[in-house]
Amino acid sequence: MTSSIAWQDLKKHHAALVNMHMRDLFKEDPNRFSAFSVQVNDILLDYSKQRVTQDTVKKLIALANACDLKTQIRALFSGGIVNISEQKPALHTALRDPTGTPLMVENQDVKKAIHAELQRIEQFVEAVRSGSRLGATGKRITDVISLGIGGSDLGPAMVCEALNDYKTTDIQLHFISNVDGKTLAPLLKKCNPETTLCFINSKSFTTIETHQNAKALCSWFEPVLGLKTIDHLIAVTAQAKRAEAFGIAKENIFEFWDFIGGRYSVWSAVGLPIALLLGMPHFKAFLAGAYEMDKHFYSAPFDQNIPVLMALLGIWNINFEEYTTQAVIPYEDGLRQFPDYLQQLEMESNGKKAQQISGFVSHATAAVIWGGVGCNGQHAYMQLLHQGTQIIPVDFLVAALGHPEFEEHHQLLVASCFSQSKALMEGTTENIDPNLTTDHLRDAKQCFGNRPSNTLVFSKLTPKVLGSLIALYEHKVFVQGILWGINSFDQWGVELGKTLVKKILPLLEGSVTPGKTMDLDSSTRGLIDYCLRIKS
Ligand code: F6P
Repeated sequence: MTSSIAWQDLKKHHAALVNMHMRDLFKEDPNRFSAFSVQVNDILLDYSKQRVTQDTVKKLIALANACDLKTQIRALFSGGIVNISEQKPALHTALRDPTGTPLMVENQDVKKAIHAELQRIEQFVEAVRSGSRLGATGKRITDVISLGIGGSDLGPAMVCEALNDYKTTDIQLHFISNVDGKTLAPLLKKCNPETTLCFINSKSFTTIETHQNAKALCSWFEPVLGLKTIDHLIAVTAQAKRAEAFGIAKENIFEFWDFIGGRYSVWSAVGLPIALLLGMPHFKAFLAGAYEMDKHFYSAPFDQNIPVLMALLGIWNINFEEYTTQAVIPYEDGLRQFPDYLQQLEMESNGKKAQQISGFVSHATAAVIWGGVGCNGQHAYMQLLHQGTQIIPVDFLVAALGHPEFEEHHQLLVASCFSQSKALMEGTTENIDPNLTTDHLRDAKQCFGNRPSNTLVFSKLTPKVLGSLIALYEHKVFVQGILWGINSFDQWGVELGKTLVKKILPLLEGSVTPGKTMDLDSSTRGLIDYCLRIKS
Protein backbone atom coordinates (compact mmCIF):
# COMPACT_ATOMS: atom_id res chain seq x y z
CA MET A 1 0.00 0.00 0.00
CA THR A 2 2.51 2.61 1.15
CA SER A 3 4.86 1.58 -1.64
CA SER A 4 2.25 2.21 -4.38
CA ILE A 5 2.92 5.01 -6.86
CA ALA A 6 -0.24 6.86 -5.77
CA TRP A 7 0.79 6.75 -2.08
CA GLN A 8 4.34 7.87 -2.80
CA ASP A 9 3.03 10.66 -4.97
CA LEU A 10 0.83 11.83 -2.08
CA LYS A 11 3.82 11.68 0.26
CA LYS A 12 5.83 13.99 -2.00
CA HIS A 13 2.87 16.26 -2.47
CA HIS A 14 2.38 16.45 1.30
CA ALA A 15 6.02 17.36 1.86
CA ALA A 16 5.58 20.28 -0.53
CA LEU A 17 2.54 21.54 1.39
CA VAL A 18 3.92 21.35 4.92
CA ASN A 19 4.17 25.10 5.36
CA MET A 20 0.92 25.96 3.63
CA HIS A 21 -1.62 27.89 5.73
CA MET A 22 -5.33 27.62 5.01
CA ARG A 23 -5.66 31.38 5.43
CA ASP A 24 -3.57 31.78 2.29
CA LEU A 25 -5.59 29.19 0.39
CA PHE A 26 -8.72 31.24 1.05
CA LYS A 27 -6.96 34.46 0.05
CA GLU A 28 -5.64 32.97 -3.18
CA ASP A 29 -8.99 31.49 -4.19
CA PRO A 30 -12.01 33.59 -3.22
CA ASN A 31 -14.26 30.80 -4.56
CA ARG A 32 -12.69 28.10 -2.47
CA PHE A 33 -16.04 27.25 -0.91
CA SER A 34 -17.63 26.41 -4.28
CA ALA A 35 -14.70 24.27 -5.31
CA PHE A 36 -14.56 22.38 -2.01
CA SER A 37 -18.20 21.75 -1.16
CA VAL A 38 -20.77 19.24 -2.34
CA GLN A 39 -24.49 19.07 -1.79
CA VAL A 40 -26.55 15.90 -1.94
CA ASN A 41 -30.27 16.21 -1.35
CA ASP A 42 -30.60 17.78 2.10
CA ILE A 43 -26.95 17.58 3.11
CA LEU A 44 -24.11 19.94 2.32
CA LEU A 45 -20.48 19.04 2.95
CA ASP A 46 -18.08 21.96 3.17
CA TYR A 47 -14.52 20.68 3.18
CA SER A 48 -12.89 23.93 2.15
CA LYS A 49 -11.46 24.21 5.67
CA GLN A 50 -9.25 21.16 5.14
CA ARG A 51 -5.55 21.60 4.39
CA VAL A 52 -5.91 20.42 0.81
CA THR A 53 -5.63 21.82 -2.69
CA GLN A 54 -7.37 20.65 -5.85
CA ASP A 55 -4.23 18.67 -6.56
CA THR A 56 -4.46 16.90 -3.21
CA VAL A 57 -8.00 15.79 -3.98
CA LYS A 58 -6.95 14.55 -7.43
CA LYS A 59 -4.09 12.55 -5.95
CA LEU A 60 -6.31 11.08 -3.24
CA ILE A 61 -8.76 10.01 -5.91
CA ALA A 62 -5.87 8.45 -7.82
CA LEU A 63 -5.14 6.43 -4.67
CA ALA A 64 -8.78 5.31 -4.53
CA ASN A 65 -8.62 4.28 -8.19
CA ALA A 66 -5.35 2.43 -7.62
CA CYS A 67 -7.19 0.43 -4.92
CA ASP A 68 -9.96 -0.34 -7.39
CA LEU A 69 -12.51 1.29 -5.13
CA LYS A 70 -15.27 1.26 -7.76
CA THR A 71 -15.11 -2.54 -8.03
CA GLN A 72 -15.15 -2.86 -4.25
CA ILE A 73 -18.23 -0.64 -3.97
CA ARG A 74 -19.98 -2.84 -6.54
CA ALA A 75 -18.96 -5.91 -4.51
CA LEU A 76 -20.38 -4.41 -1.31
CA PHE A 77 -23.77 -3.74 -2.87
CA SER A 78 -24.03 -6.99 -4.79
CA GLY A 79 -23.34 -9.35 -1.88
CA GLY A 80 -19.65 -10.02 -2.59
CA ILE A 81 -17.58 -11.56 0.21
CA VAL A 82 -16.20 -8.30 1.61
CA ASN A 83 -15.77 -9.77 5.11
CA ILE A 84 -13.00 -12.17 4.22
CA SER A 85 -12.01 -13.44 7.67
CA GLU A 86 -15.60 -14.57 8.25
CA GLN A 87 -16.32 -15.35 4.59
CA LYS A 88 -19.48 -13.23 4.57
CA PRO A 89 -21.03 -10.40 2.59
CA ALA A 90 -22.03 -7.20 4.43
CA LEU A 91 -25.52 -6.39 3.26
CA HIS A 92 -26.67 -3.42 5.32
CA THR A 93 -27.44 -1.58 2.08
CA ALA A 94 -30.00 -4.28 1.20
CA LEU A 95 -31.86 -3.55 4.45
CA ARG A 96 -32.89 -0.12 3.16
CA ASP A 97 -33.33 -0.90 -0.52
CA PRO A 98 -37.07 -0.70 -1.23
CA THR A 99 -36.83 -2.03 -4.80
CA GLY A 100 -37.94 -5.51 -5.71
CA THR A 101 -34.82 -6.29 -7.75
CA PRO A 102 -33.68 -9.67 -6.41
CA LEU A 103 -30.35 -9.93 -4.61
CA MET A 104 -29.29 -13.55 -4.55
CA VAL A 105 -26.99 -14.76 -1.78
CA GLU A 106 -26.49 -18.50 -1.42
CA ASN A 107 -29.53 -19.13 -3.63
CA GLN A 108 -31.79 -16.94 -1.50
CA ASP A 109 -33.29 -13.61 -2.56
CA VAL A 110 -32.23 -11.71 0.55
CA LYS A 111 -34.20 -8.62 -0.40
CA LYS A 112 -37.44 -10.57 -0.54
CA ALA A 113 -36.68 -12.02 2.90
CA ILE A 114 -35.79 -8.54 4.25
CA HIS A 115 -39.03 -7.03 2.93
CA ALA A 116 -41.06 -9.86 4.47
CA GLU A 117 -39.36 -9.20 7.82
CA LEU A 118 -40.08 -5.48 7.49
CA GLN A 119 -43.75 -6.37 7.16
CA ARG A 120 -43.56 -8.45 10.35
CA ILE A 121 -41.95 -5.46 12.09
CA GLU A 122 -44.75 -3.24 10.83
CA GLN A 123 -47.48 -5.58 12.05
CA PHE A 124 -45.86 -5.92 15.46
CA VAL A 125 -45.28 -2.18 15.86
CA GLU A 126 -48.82 -1.28 14.79
CA ALA A 127 -50.29 -3.89 17.14
CA VAL A 128 -48.36 -2.59 20.16
CA ARG A 129 -48.93 1.08 19.33
CA SER A 130 -52.65 0.67 18.66
CA GLY A 131 -53.19 -1.43 21.77
CA SER A 132 -54.40 -4.48 19.88
CA ARG A 133 -51.44 -6.37 21.33
CA LEU A 134 -51.82 -6.19 25.09
CA GLY A 135 -49.75 -7.48 27.96
CA ALA A 136 -50.38 -10.98 29.30
CA THR A 137 -52.90 -9.72 31.87
CA GLY A 138 -54.84 -7.72 29.30
CA LYS A 139 -53.33 -4.31 30.00
CA ARG A 140 -52.03 -1.85 27.42
CA ILE A 141 -48.24 -1.67 26.95
CA THR A 142 -46.82 1.50 28.50
CA ASP A 143 -43.06 0.75 28.55
CA VAL A 144 -40.46 -1.09 26.52
CA ILE A 145 -37.08 -2.02 27.95
CA SER A 146 -34.60 -2.62 25.16
CA LEU A 147 -31.59 -4.75 26.13
CA GLY A 148 -28.47 -5.00 24.01
CA ILE A 149 -24.95 -3.67 23.88
CA GLY A 150 -22.62 -2.23 21.23
CA GLY A 151 -24.29 -2.39 17.85
CA SER A 152 -27.36 -3.95 19.44
CA ASP A 153 -27.93 -0.75 21.41
CA LEU A 154 -26.04 2.28 20.15
CA GLY A 155 -28.02 2.70 16.91
CA PRO A 156 -31.58 2.56 18.27
CA ALA A 157 -30.63 4.48 21.43
CA MET A 158 -28.95 7.27 19.45
CA VAL A 159 -31.70 7.52 16.81
CA CYS A 160 -34.56 7.46 19.34
CA GLU A 161 -32.99 10.36 21.22
CA ALA A 162 -32.14 12.28 18.05
CA LEU A 163 -35.63 11.98 16.60
CA ASN A 164 -37.62 12.39 19.79
CA ASP A 165 -39.53 15.29 18.18
CA TYR A 166 -41.07 12.73 15.83
CA LYS A 167 -42.38 10.58 18.65
CA THR A 168 -45.97 9.53 18.02
CA THR A 169 -46.77 7.30 20.98
CA ASP A 170 -47.02 7.53 24.75
CA ILE A 171 -45.07 4.31 25.17
CA GLN A 172 -41.86 4.98 27.09
CA LEU A 173 -38.62 3.46 25.82
CA HIS A 174 -35.71 2.57 28.07
CA PHE A 175 -32.33 1.31 26.90
CA ILE A 176 -30.20 -0.90 29.10
CA SER A 177 -26.78 -1.86 27.80
CA ASN A 178 -24.31 -1.97 30.68
CA VAL A 179 -24.49 -4.48 33.51
CA ASP A 180 -24.94 -1.82 36.15
CA GLY A 181 -27.58 -2.69 38.70
CA LYS A 182 -27.68 0.97 39.70
CA THR A 183 -29.35 1.75 36.37
CA LEU A 184 -31.57 -1.28 36.32
CA ALA A 185 -32.89 -1.08 39.90
CA PRO A 186 -34.62 2.34 39.65
CA LEU A 187 -35.96 1.51 36.20
CA LEU A 188 -37.59 -1.70 37.38
CA LYS A 189 -39.09 0.17 40.33
CA LYS A 190 -40.64 2.64 37.90
CA CYS A 191 -42.07 0.12 35.42
CA ASN A 192 -44.92 -2.35 35.81
CA PRO A 193 -44.22 -5.90 34.54
CA GLU A 194 -47.83 -6.21 33.34
CA THR A 195 -47.45 -3.29 30.96
CA THR A 196 -43.79 -3.65 29.97
CA LEU A 197 -42.27 -5.48 27.00
CA CYS A 198 -38.63 -6.50 26.92
CA PHE A 199 -36.65 -6.50 23.67
CA ILE A 200 -33.52 -8.63 23.79
CA ASN A 201 -31.24 -7.55 20.93
CA SER A 202 -28.26 -9.78 20.40
CA LYS A 203 -26.96 -11.09 17.12
CA SER A 204 -25.05 -13.93 18.81
CA PHE A 205 -27.43 -14.36 21.75
CA THR A 206 -24.37 -15.19 23.84
CA THR A 207 -23.26 -11.70 24.88
CA ILE A 208 -22.73 -11.93 28.61
CA GLU A 209 -23.97 -8.43 29.53
CA THR A 210 -27.21 -8.77 27.57
CA HIS A 211 -27.71 -12.28 28.94
CA GLN A 212 -27.27 -11.04 32.51
CA ASN A 213 -29.81 -8.25 31.98
CA ALA A 214 -32.25 -10.60 30.24
CA LYS A 215 -32.11 -12.99 33.21
CA ALA A 216 -32.78 -10.05 35.56
CA LEU A 217 -35.82 -9.04 33.51
CA CYS A 218 -37.18 -12.60 33.53
CA SER A 219 -36.85 -12.69 37.33
CA TRP A 220 -38.71 -9.40 37.47
CA PHE A 221 -41.55 -10.56 35.21
CA GLU A 222 -42.00 -14.06 36.61
CA PRO A 223 -43.48 -13.39 40.08
CA VAL A 224 -46.20 -11.30 38.40
CA LEU A 225 -46.72 -13.04 35.06
CA GLY A 226 -45.58 -16.60 35.77
CA LEU A 227 -45.62 -18.72 32.64
CA LYS A 228 -46.99 -15.77 30.68
CA THR A 229 -43.62 -14.03 30.97
CA ILE A 230 -42.93 -15.47 27.53
CA ASP A 231 -45.52 -13.09 26.02
CA HIS A 232 -43.44 -10.10 27.16
CA LEU A 233 -40.10 -11.21 25.73
CA ILE A 234 -39.16 -10.25 22.17
CA ALA A 235 -35.80 -11.22 20.68
CA VAL A 236 -33.88 -9.82 17.71
CA THR A 237 -31.15 -12.29 16.86
CA ALA A 238 -29.38 -14.25 14.16
CA GLN A 239 -29.45 -17.27 16.52
CA ALA A 240 -33.13 -18.16 16.82
CA LYS A 241 -32.41 -21.58 18.35
CA ARG A 242 -30.47 -20.01 21.25
CA ALA A 243 -33.29 -17.52 21.79
CA GLU A 244 -35.85 -20.33 21.89
CA ALA A 245 -33.69 -22.27 24.33
CA PHE A 246 -33.64 -19.16 26.54
CA GLY A 247 -37.43 -19.17 26.55
CA ILE A 248 -38.51 -16.82 23.78
CA ALA A 249 -41.55 -17.84 21.72
CA LYS A 250 -40.77 -18.53 18.06
CA GLU A 251 -43.28 -15.91 16.89
CA ASN A 252 -41.58 -13.28 19.09
CA ILE A 253 -38.19 -13.69 17.38
CA PHE A 254 -37.13 -11.21 14.69
CA GLU A 255 -34.26 -11.65 12.26
CA PHE A 256 -30.94 -9.92 12.82
CA TRP A 257 -29.44 -11.62 9.73
CA ASP A 258 -26.11 -13.34 9.65
CA PHE A 259 -24.86 -11.01 6.91
CA ILE A 260 -25.36 -7.85 9.02
CA GLY A 261 -22.73 -6.72 11.50
CA GLY A 262 -23.98 -5.34 14.84
CA ARG A 263 -22.74 -1.83 14.09
CA TYR A 264 -24.60 -1.87 10.75
CA SER A 265 -27.84 -3.29 12.15
CA VAL A 266 -29.96 -0.25 13.02
CA TRP A 267 -31.85 -0.71 9.72
CA SER A 268 -33.04 -4.20 10.68
CA ALA A 269 -35.37 -5.30 13.48
CA VAL A 270 -32.69 -3.91 15.82
CA GLY A 271 -34.42 -0.65 14.88
CA LEU A 272 -37.73 -1.89 16.39
CA PRO A 273 -37.57 0.71 19.19
CA ILE A 274 -37.30 3.42 16.53
CA ALA A 275 -40.29 2.10 14.59
CA LEU A 276 -42.26 1.77 17.80
CA LEU A 277 -41.46 5.29 18.97
CA LEU A 278 -41.85 7.14 15.68
CA GLY A 279 -44.28 4.92 13.80
CA MET A 280 -43.66 3.03 10.59
CA PRO A 281 -43.87 5.98 8.14
CA HIS A 282 -41.01 7.73 9.95
CA PHE A 283 -39.01 4.51 10.22
CA LYS A 284 -39.45 4.03 6.47
CA ALA A 285 -38.34 7.63 5.88
CA PHE A 286 -35.23 6.86 7.95
CA LEU A 287 -34.52 3.86 5.69
CA ALA A 288 -35.25 5.99 2.61
CA GLY A 289 -32.68 8.57 3.71
CA ALA A 290 -30.05 5.85 3.93
CA TYR A 291 -31.10 4.50 0.54
CA GLU A 292 -30.65 7.97 -1.00
CA MET A 293 -27.11 8.10 0.37
CA ASP A 294 -26.48 4.56 -0.94
CA LYS A 295 -27.47 5.62 -4.46
CA HIS A 296 -25.27 8.68 -4.25
CA PHE A 297 -22.31 6.64 -2.96
CA TYR A 298 -22.81 3.99 -5.63
CA SER A 299 -23.03 6.30 -8.60
CA ALA A 300 -21.54 9.76 -7.96
CA PRO A 301 -18.09 10.44 -9.39
CA PHE A 302 -15.52 10.36 -6.61
CA ASP A 303 -14.86 14.12 -6.69
CA GLN A 304 -18.58 14.71 -6.00
CA ASN A 305 -19.12 11.75 -3.72
CA ILE A 306 -19.55 12.82 -0.07
CA PRO A 307 -18.65 9.51 1.64
CA VAL A 308 -15.67 9.00 -0.66
CA LEU A 309 -14.43 12.56 -0.14
CA MET A 310 -14.79 12.32 3.64
CA ALA A 311 -12.93 9.02 3.63
CA LEU A 312 -10.12 10.44 1.51
CA LEU A 313 -9.82 13.55 3.67
CA GLY A 314 -9.64 11.28 6.70
CA ILE A 315 -6.82 9.33 5.09
CA TRP A 316 -5.02 12.57 4.26
CA ASN A 317 -5.31 13.70 7.88
CA ILE A 318 -4.42 10.35 9.46
CA ASN A 319 -1.73 9.03 7.13
CA PHE A 320 -0.09 12.13 5.73
CA GLU A 321 -0.71 14.86 8.29
CA GLU A 322 -0.35 12.20 11.02
CA TYR A 323 -3.25 13.44 13.12
CA THR A 324 -4.32 10.59 15.38
CA THR A 325 -7.72 11.62 16.69
CA GLN A 326 -10.88 12.98 15.12
CA ALA A 327 -13.54 15.01 16.93
CA VAL A 328 -17.21 14.89 15.98
CA ILE A 329 -19.15 17.90 17.23
CA PRO A 330 -22.87 18.08 16.44
CA TYR A 331 -24.58 21.39 17.21
CA GLU A 332 -27.81 19.64 18.16
CA ASP A 333 -28.56 18.19 21.60
CA GLY A 334 -30.50 15.33 20.04
CA LEU A 335 -27.26 14.13 18.43
CA ARG A 336 -25.57 13.85 21.82
CA GLN A 337 -24.99 10.13 21.29
CA PHE A 338 -23.83 10.47 17.68
CA PRO A 339 -20.11 10.57 18.59
CA ASP A 340 -20.58 7.37 20.66
CA TYR A 341 -22.32 5.73 17.74
CA LEU A 342 -19.51 6.71 15.38
CA GLN A 343 -16.94 5.52 17.90
CA GLN A 344 -18.15 1.96 17.45
CA LEU A 345 -18.74 2.33 13.72
CA GLU A 346 -15.27 3.70 12.98
CA MET A 347 -13.12 2.20 15.72
CA GLU A 348 -14.58 -1.30 15.75
CA SER A 349 -14.60 -1.38 11.95
CA ASN A 350 -11.17 0.05 11.21
CA GLY A 351 -9.23 -0.16 14.48
CA LYS A 352 -7.06 -2.94 13.05
CA LYS A 353 -3.65 -3.72 11.69
CA ALA A 354 -4.19 -7.18 10.17
CA GLN A 355 -4.36 -6.92 6.41
CA GLN A 356 -7.34 -8.29 4.50
CA ILE A 357 -5.29 -11.15 3.06
CA SER A 358 -2.42 -11.73 5.50
CA GLY A 359 0.27 -9.86 7.41
CA PHE A 360 0.08 -6.45 9.04
CA VAL A 361 -0.16 -2.93 7.68
CA SER A 362 2.75 -0.55 8.09
CA HIS A 363 0.57 2.57 8.02
CA ALA A 364 -1.87 4.07 10.53
CA THR A 365 -5.54 3.08 10.38
CA ALA A 366 -8.58 4.42 12.27
CA ALA A 367 -8.26 7.59 14.30
CA VAL A 368 -9.58 7.81 17.85
CA ILE A 369 -13.10 9.18 17.51
CA TRP A 370 -14.47 11.34 20.27
CA GLY A 371 -16.66 14.40 20.68
CA GLY A 372 -19.77 15.91 22.14
CA VAL A 373 -22.34 18.57 21.43
CA GLY A 374 -21.49 22.15 20.67
CA CYS A 375 -21.77 24.76 22.20
CA ASN A 376 -20.95 22.77 25.36
CA GLY A 377 -17.57 21.67 24.00
CA GLN A 378 -16.59 25.29 23.41
CA HIS A 379 -16.67 25.86 27.14
CA ALA A 380 -14.80 22.68 27.92
CA TYR A 381 -12.33 21.01 25.55
CA MET A 382 -12.24 23.35 22.53
CA GLN A 383 -9.33 25.24 24.13
CA LEU A 384 -7.06 22.32 23.26
CA LEU A 385 -8.34 22.23 19.71
CA HIS A 386 -7.54 25.93 19.21
CA GLN A 387 -4.21 26.16 20.97
CA GLY A 388 -3.07 22.69 22.02
CA THR A 389 0.01 20.97 20.69
CA GLN A 390 -1.98 18.25 18.96
CA ILE A 391 -3.98 19.00 15.87
CA ILE A 392 -7.41 17.42 15.92
CA PRO A 393 -9.55 17.50 12.79
CA VAL A 394 -13.23 18.13 13.48
CA ASP A 395 -16.47 17.14 11.81
CA PHE A 396 -19.03 19.82 12.67
CA LEU A 397 -22.69 18.95 12.12
CA VAL A 398 -25.46 21.52 12.24
CA ALA A 399 -29.03 22.00 11.01
CA ALA A 400 -30.01 25.17 9.17
CA LEU A 401 -33.39 25.10 10.93
CA GLY A 402 -34.01 24.64 14.62
CA HIS A 403 -37.01 24.75 16.91
CA PRO A 404 -39.54 27.23 15.42
CA GLU A 405 -40.31 28.75 18.82
CA PHE A 406 -36.67 29.49 19.55
CA GLU A 407 -35.36 31.06 16.35
CA GLU A 408 -32.84 33.24 18.18
CA HIS A 409 -31.43 30.25 20.00
CA HIS A 410 -30.88 28.53 16.71
CA GLN A 411 -29.16 31.49 15.08
CA LEU A 412 -26.78 31.56 18.01
CA LEU A 413 -26.17 27.82 17.69
CA VAL A 414 -25.37 28.03 13.99
CA ALA A 415 -23.24 31.15 14.44
CA SER A 416 -21.28 29.37 17.16
CA CYS A 417 -20.62 26.39 14.93
CA PHE A 418 -19.40 28.50 12.03
CA SER A 419 -17.30 30.67 14.36
CA GLN A 420 -15.49 27.62 15.68
CA SER A 421 -14.59 26.30 12.25
CA LYS A 422 -13.50 29.76 11.12
CA ALA A 423 -11.36 30.25 14.22
CA LEU A 424 -9.75 26.84 13.77
CA MET A 425 -9.02 27.60 10.13
CA GLU A 426 -7.76 31.19 10.40
CA GLY A 427 -6.45 31.51 13.91
CA THR A 428 -5.86 34.98 15.30
CA THR A 429 -5.95 37.46 12.44
CA GLU A 430 -6.48 40.79 14.13
CA ASN A 431 -3.38 42.40 15.56
CA ILE A 432 -3.07 41.65 19.21
CA ASP A 433 -3.36 44.84 21.26
CA PRO A 434 0.07 46.60 21.04
CA ASN A 435 -0.50 48.03 24.49
CA LEU A 436 -0.04 44.58 25.91
CA THR A 437 3.19 44.78 27.73
CA THR A 438 4.29 41.21 28.12
CA ASP A 439 5.37 38.82 25.41
CA HIS A 440 3.81 36.08 27.42
CA LEU A 441 0.31 37.51 27.16
CA ARG A 442 0.76 38.07 23.43
CA ASP A 443 1.79 34.45 23.01
CA ALA A 444 -0.94 33.16 25.26
CA LYS A 445 -3.57 34.89 23.13
CA GLN A 446 -2.24 33.59 19.85
CA CYS A 447 -4.42 31.06 17.98
CA PHE A 448 -2.50 29.49 15.12
CA GLY A 449 -5.30 28.34 12.87
CA ASN A 450 -4.55 25.96 10.01
CA ARG A 451 -6.57 23.33 11.91
CA PRO A 452 -8.83 21.33 9.62
CA SER A 453 -12.54 20.67 9.79
CA ASN A 454 -15.48 19.47 7.71
CA THR A 455 -18.86 21.07 8.19
CA LEU A 456 -21.99 19.09 7.39
CA VAL A 457 -25.07 21.28 7.19
CA PHE A 458 -28.51 19.77 6.75
CA SER A 459 -31.86 21.49 6.49
CA LYS A 460 -33.35 19.94 9.63
CA LEU A 461 -32.77 16.77 11.61
CA THR A 462 -35.54 14.63 10.09
CA PRO A 463 -35.71 10.81 10.02
CA LYS A 464 -34.62 10.96 6.38
CA VAL A 465 -31.65 13.23 7.03
CA LEU A 466 -30.47 11.11 9.96
CA GLY A 467 -30.73 7.98 7.81
CA SER A 468 -28.56 9.67 5.18
CA LEU A 469 -26.01 10.86 7.74
CA ILE A 470 -25.52 7.43 9.26
CA ALA A 471 -25.21 5.79 5.82
CA LEU A 472 -22.69 8.49 4.86
CA TYR A 473 -20.40 7.53 7.75
CA GLU A 474 -20.90 3.79 7.09
CA HIS A 475 -19.65 4.29 3.54
CA LYS A 476 -16.80 6.54 4.66
CA VAL A 477 -15.63 3.71 6.92
CA PHE A 478 -15.94 1.18 4.10
CA VAL A 479 -13.83 3.29 1.73
CA GLN A 480 -11.13 3.77 4.36
CA GLY A 481 -11.05 0.03 5.07
CA ILE A 482 -10.53 -0.67 1.36
CA LEU A 483 -7.75 1.91 1.01
CA TRP A 484 -6.04 0.68 4.18
CA GLY A 485 -6.34 -2.94 3.00
CA ILE A 486 -8.12 -4.13 6.16
CA ASN A 487 -11.41 -5.91 6.84
CA SER A 488 -13.93 -3.38 8.22
CA PHE A 489 -16.48 -6.07 9.03
CA ASP A 490 -14.87 -8.29 11.65
CA GLN A 491 -13.88 -7.46 15.27
CA TRP A 492 -11.60 -10.19 16.57
CA GLY A 493 -9.89 -7.79 18.96
CA VAL A 494 -12.84 -7.79 21.35
CA GLU A 495 -12.81 -11.58 21.79
CA LEU A 496 -9.86 -11.87 24.20
CA GLY A 497 -11.56 -9.72 26.84
CA LYS A 498 -14.74 -11.76 26.45
CA THR A 499 -12.84 -15.01 27.10
CA LEU A 500 -11.06 -13.57 30.12
CA VAL A 501 -14.21 -12.26 31.79
CA LYS A 502 -15.55 -15.80 31.88
CA LYS A 503 -12.44 -16.85 33.79
CA ILE A 504 -12.23 -13.86 36.11
CA LEU A 505 -15.91 -13.78 37.08
CA PRO A 506 -15.82 -17.02 39.15
CA LEU A 507 -12.79 -15.66 41.01
CA LEU A 508 -14.69 -12.54 42.00
CA GLU A 509 -17.72 -14.58 42.94
CA GLY A 510 -15.37 -16.49 45.24
CA SER A 511 -16.39 -19.83 43.72
CA VAL A 512 -12.87 -20.56 42.44
CA THR A 513 -9.49 -19.82 44.02
CA PRO A 514 -6.88 -18.08 41.84
CA GLY A 515 -4.06 -20.35 40.86
CA LYS A 516 -6.25 -23.44 40.64
CA THR A 517 -7.75 -22.67 37.28
CA MET A 518 -5.52 -20.02 35.76
CA ASP A 519 -2.30 -18.22 36.31
CA LEU A 520 -2.94 -14.65 37.24
CA ASP A 521 -0.58 -11.73 36.90
CA SER A 522 0.02 -9.95 40.18
CA SER A 523 -1.97 -6.88 39.17
CA THR A 524 -5.17 -8.79 38.35
CA ARG A 525 -4.73 -11.00 41.41
CA GLY A 526 -4.15 -7.94 43.63
CA LEU A 527 -7.26 -6.20 42.30
CA ILE A 528 -9.44 -9.27 42.81
CA ASP A 529 -8.10 -9.81 46.32
CA TYR A 530 -8.77 -6.19 47.20
CA CYS A 531 -12.43 -6.46 46.10
CA LEU A 532 -12.88 -9.77 47.91
CA ARG A 533 -11.48 -8.23 51.11
CA ILE A 534 -13.89 -5.30 50.88
CA LYS A 535 -16.84 -7.62 50.24
CA SER A 536 -16.08 -9.91 53.19
O1 F6P B 1 -18.09 -7.22 21.49
C1 F6P B 1 -18.35 -6.56 20.33
C2 F6P B 1 -19.67 -6.95 19.74
O2 F6P B 1 -19.57 -8.20 19.18
C3 F6P B 1 -20.16 -5.93 18.75
O3 F6P B 1 -19.60 -6.08 17.52
C4 F6P B 1 -21.63 -6.14 18.81
O4 F6P B 1 -22.33 -5.08 18.26
C5 F6P B 1 -21.82 -6.31 20.29
O5 F6P B 1 -20.68 -7.01 20.73
C6 F6P B 1 -23.05 -7.05 20.70
O6 F6P B 1 -23.08 -8.35 20.16
P1 F6P B 1 -24.41 -9.18 20.09
O7 F6P B 1 -25.36 -8.44 19.20
O8 F6P B 1 -24.03 -10.51 19.53
O9 F6P B 1 -24.95 -9.28 21.48
